[in-house]
Amino acid sequence: MRIVMIGAGYVGLVSGACFADFGHNVICVDKDAQRLDALRNGRMPIFEPGLDVLVEENSEQGRLGFTDNLIEAVSQADIVFIAVGTPSRRGDGYADLSYVYGAAREIAAAMSGFTVIVTKSTVPVGTGDEVERIVAETNPKAEFAVVSNPEFLREGSAIEDFKRPDRIVIGTDNEKARKLMEEVYRPLYLNASPILHMNRRTAELTKYAANAFLAMKITFINEMADLCEQVGADIQDVSRGMGMDQRIGAKFLHAGPGYGGSCFPKDTLALVKTAQDADSPTRLIEATVSVNEQRKRAMARKVIRAVGGKVRGKTIGILGLTFKPNTDDMRESPAISIIQTLVDKGAEIKAYDPEGMDQAKPLLPPNVKYCKTPYEVAEEASALVIVTEWNVFRSLDLDRLKTVMASPVLVDLRNIYRPEQVRQAGFTYACIGRGD
Ligand code: NAD
Ligand code: UGA
Repeated sequence: MRIVMIGAGYVGLVSGACFADFGHNVICVDKDAQRLDALRNGRMPIFEPGLDVLVEENSEQGRLGFTDNLIEAVSQADIVFIAVGTPSRRGDGYADLSYVYGAAREIAAAMSGFTVIVTKSTVPVGTGDEVERIVAETNPKAEFAVVSNPEFLREGSAIEDFKRPDRIVIGTDNEKARKLMEEVYRPLYLNASPILHMNRRTAELTKYAANAFLAMKITFINEMADLCEQVGADIQDVSRGMGMDQRIGAKFLHAGPGYGGSCFPKDTLALVKTAQDADSPTRLIEATVSVNEQRKRAMARKVIRAVGGKVRGKTIGILGLTFKPNTDDMRESPAISIIQTLVDKGAEIKAYDPEGMDQAKPLLPPNVKYCKTPYEVAEEASALVIVTEWNVFRSLDLDRLKTVMASPVLVDLRNIYRPEQVRQAGFTYACIGRGD
């Protein structure tokens, strides 16, 4: 099976490397020369656990290659996956489909023989129809089918998620394309990952529905956490008590500073737009978007309260910048709004993140001071704020922190410490939904 992956970002690179690991021949095409240069020289353009080894092994075996020559790659392909970005369009929240449609045009001009074109990018309902129209218009003689195969992996556990998915969704009515897709995924469903066949529009919507539901679940528990703070309840126990009900499930019930990342924020917005245009507004998702947006700034106010109501002239130490641990991805990270709000109120910011500092610099105010360890962040700080739950922040030496800080205040936006432990160590401790 000759597979071409257009886009070697988080999804394209992980999917390409995993497909190669299943024994397929995979070429990843990208326009970004720096990215290709890094990959050809064995350097990963993104931080994703295990990806370096997977790419190296499969490149050495000759099953995985990288190129900017889309025409040559596509002309020899049986299946071409589109895994380019679909960010929010500036100003209106619709998904920006220009990269997808651009890729479709280039594929159409390059393909030869029957080719299956698969949208792996997250795309609004009807995008497959438009890709089909573009390909037919660009290359009227083309023999092809357009399939929707949304991806459900998470950053930070992307390889595990890709290789052991809860399900694989394939949206097509074309029998030949369906057989080829089953061939591509055969190693997975032999491992008991079910394949769900459906029509293309349904597959496209399934992806948005899944992401929006998860975003809503997180937002629900975040609102419960706020209520816990007002009424003297404990959100950790509420989550456990709810999550053990198998109809609810324990996952994605961890209260925090609001969801971020490259997908939940943009996908919830895009779904809201699709639904409004279809005269079927999704009011729960509209509320989710707005509650989550306000939450990030509310987290900055929590920090300000913890240091006595004013941050002007005080140093605030930030631990964790990425939107979640085990990634270097800063897209829509809550840390961005929290830090900007604190800077607006006159705080000096020191920060440390194990992997995300290079990505963070262009997105954060220029006077943020980046440190090499959590202990360097703590020096002279009036508060330490845990924004991302990296494992290295889970067992900090509290006595050591206390000796270097201006005042011992810990704001734990991920609830990774036990309140009594931190308070016994002499800290003022603020957290989420556990009555501070
Ligand atoms: P990304 O921005 O990391 O990567 C996209 C890549 O595509 C870039 O390297 C870019 O240079 C390249 N590209 C754009 N147009 C191109 C073209 N015409 N030819 C060749 N290369 C081109 O994006 P991502 O995070 O991998 O997301 C891709 C899609 O997958 C999005 O629709 C996203 O919603 C979806 N998705 C992402 C995740 C995730 O965890 N990041 C998970 C599931 C689904
Ligand atoms: C998410 C989905 O989980 C994937 O299934 C999907 O494929 C992907 O989006 C996508 O479409 O791109 P990802 O954004 O990588 O994956 O990370 P998540 O683990 O879902 O976390 C997203 C955000 O929610 C993070 O900011 C995280 O801290 C937050 N979160 C998650 C919580 O605040 N509480 C939780 O209980 C879980």
